[in-house]
Amino acid sequence: MGGSWKLTCALLLLISAAATATDHIVGANRGWNPNINYTLWANNHTFYVGDLISFRYQKNQYNVFEVNQTGYDNCTTEGAVGNWTSGKDFIPLNKAKRYYFICGNGQCFSGMKVSVIVHPLPPPPTSALAAEHSTPNSASPLLFKRSLLLSSVLACFGFVWM
Ligand SMILES: *[C@@H]1O[C@H](CO)[C@@H](O)[C@H](O)[C@H]1NC(C)=O
Ligand SMILES: *[C@@H]1O[C@H](CO)[C@@H](O)[C@H](O)[C@H]1NC(C)=O
Ligand SMILES: *[C@@H]1O[C@H](CO)[C@@H](O)[C@H](O)[C@H]1NC(C)=O
Ligand SMILES: *[C@@H]1O[C@H](CO)[C@@H](O)[C@H](O)[C@H]1NC(C)=O
Ligand SMILES: *[C@@H]1O[C@H](CO)[C@@H](O)[C@H](O)[C@H]1NC(C)=O
Repeated sequence: MGGSWKLTCALLLLISAAATATDHIVGANRGWNPNINYTLWANNHTFYVGDLISFRYQKNQYNVFEVNQTGYDNCTTEGAVGNWTSGKDFIPLNKAKRYYFICGNGQCFSGMKVSVIVHPLPPPPTSALAAEHSTPNSASPLLFKRSLLLSSVLACFGFVWM
């Protein structure tokens, strides 16, 4: 009995935790390729701490480097913070800051560079009513997802103590 509740809770938490992180696929269905304006793509997305950015590309042809602003502006990988080569790279955006990613094989000069601003999470809703009454904005789905996670956590703690 207790065991099956725990399993249900673990599952519920897993699902709602997954729901809180958005995976932003760079370039959407065009992926990570030359001659795409990724500034336009980035301007169309809102990034929050805990989200993922993912790069899809032909493995061995392209790659991904996280660099600083100099690296982004000049297409250089000196002092790169990280690099990825799997062809399907999921990179967690764990800090509220501007991130810079470029392709490290020269294709940065053909536009394979993207910079995104990651925002801190908005404060959790104080009540469902407050969330309902706030004007619709881009944060609303996030608030919903956060309350989903919160209620699962509460529900699970409730069950554990029963
Ligand atoms: C990409 O689009 C942005 C916004 O319209 C523009 O400022 C920028 O010059 C474009 N970049 C390239 C390489 O065309
Ligand atoms: C921006 O988002 C809209 C709606 O999702 C989409 O139709 C459009 O193609 C996007 N533009 C770019 C440059 O990604
Ligand atoms: C970046 O490129 C600019 C213009 O080409 C140059 O003036 C600058 O010195 C470069 N910066 C670095 C750190 O290489
Ligand atoms: C980026 O890193 C390079 C190499 O470590 C360094 O020379 C440069 O000053 C850095 N640029 C910024 C804007 O921090
Ligand atoms: C790529 O990252 C690994 C560590 O994850 C590092 O050892 C390697 O030197 C990096 N490669 C380049 C070209 O920076």
